[in-house]
Amino acid sequence: MNTSAGKTALITGASSGIGLELAKLFAKDGYNLVLVARSDDKLQQLANRFNDDYGIETTVIGKDLSEEDAAQDVYNQVREKGLTINVLVNDAGVGAYGKFANETEWEREKALIHLNVLATTQMTKLFLKEMVERNEGKILNLASLVSVTPFPLMAVYAATKAYVYNFTQSLINELKDTKVTVTALLPNATNTDFFNKAGATNIRATDQVDDPAMVAKDGYKALMAGESKVVPGGLVNKMYEVMAYVAPQEAVAAMMRYNNEPKAEPKEQKKEEGSDKAANSSALAWGLGIAAVAVAGVALAVAYSNSSVVDKWRYKYKLGKLKWKASRGYAHASDEAVDLVSEASKAVSNGLDNLRQTVARAVN
Ligand SMILES: NC(=O)c1ccc[n+]([C@@H]2O[C@H](COP(=O)([O-])OP(=O)(O)OC[C@H]3O[C@@H](n4cnc5c(N)ncnc54)[C@H](OP(=O)(O)O)[C@@H]3O)[C@@H](O)[C@H]2O)c1
Repeated sequence: MNTSAGKTALITGASSGIGLELAKLFAKDGYNLVLVARSDDKLQQLANRFNDDYGIETTVIGKDLSEEDAAQDVYNQVREKGLTINVLVNDAGVGAYGKFANETEWEREKALIHLNVLATTQMTKLFLKEMVERNEGKILNLASLVSVTPFPLMAVYAATKAYVYNFTQSLINELKDTKVTVTALLPNATNTDFFNKAGATNIRATDQVDDPAMVAKDGYKALMAGESKVVPGGLVNKMYEVMAYVAPQEAVAAMMRYNNEPKAEPKEQKKEEGSDKAANSSALAWGLGIAAVAVAGVALAVAYSNSSVVDKWRYKYKLGKLKWKASRGYAHASDEAVDLVSEASKAVSNGLDNLRQTVARAVN
């Protein structure tokens, strides 16, 4: 059965990047669309393509959401067209690069806060009320992995994403007795024009970027399943999140600062291999090491309670070894961290296997 028939999704920031990839997924599944961004010409081209390819109805609203009450205006236009919004995607967002004290401009940051925080909140306020009245609806909010970590050199941006994530998790609790779901999408650095537009060119974070189509696919799946949050991608992205919760904030901030700094010029690269890089990689190794121990510790605790005396000693030894490695993470920097992550993930899956067996025994 096609559950999307006759349903409408409103997507802000649909003219490029992750929002565009999300729009494609909704269109493919037969949702009618309301696309919002400033570049209405791009949105109109997209609308024509979707309408031809998928036989859906697409409405374009060209709007600068960083302006006062822009969300109210979008809502009014939707109402005038007699549309019901079943899914709201708050994707539109921008960053601003530089040291807050003396490199970034207040006017730009004010507009950023308006777009990332006020527009997202007001859009949610306006459309959520109707969803709750109908007892039906879904919202996807674009948070970020930096919602849960400091992000020096993009301090205001990271703070807005922390807001989006926290706001989302509180709403989920408030809505738990309804059929309305809210999901936070927390991507790592993604291959869009985001960093370029933020003025962050040639930084280390853009060396390894995720595919926006993959990010959108994981976000769409989590949204449809009504999950509270999703970190798209593989184990490394998930470990970043765990690390953010368990590692000291100073270590996480140092690692994120390193990632967000410009890449060294070739002739400076050798110098960088010295003290600065070592210090930062040790922060990375240390942070990841602590995270690995935390994840492994949980898994081992699960496994421990159901194991033989011999296995209990083995698990104790393994956890001790992991702790030791974490405390000496500086020795082989990121190599050490990767080893820890892979050991931890094995421990997690061992622990889960044991848990599964225990549950199966209890059921039978
Ligand atoms: N790329 C990453 O590494 C990354 C990681 C984590 C989270 N995110 C989040 O993902 C979301 C999408 O970013 P992206 O990476 O896909 O970047 P992007 O390609 O630059 O897309 C940003 C979208 O927001 C729209 N937008 C920007 N300013 C706007 C304004 N004032 N009013 C209305 N729409 C506006 C843009 O359209 P117009 O320019 O046409 O207005 C565009 O459609 C953002 O919320 C971002 O914070 C990105």
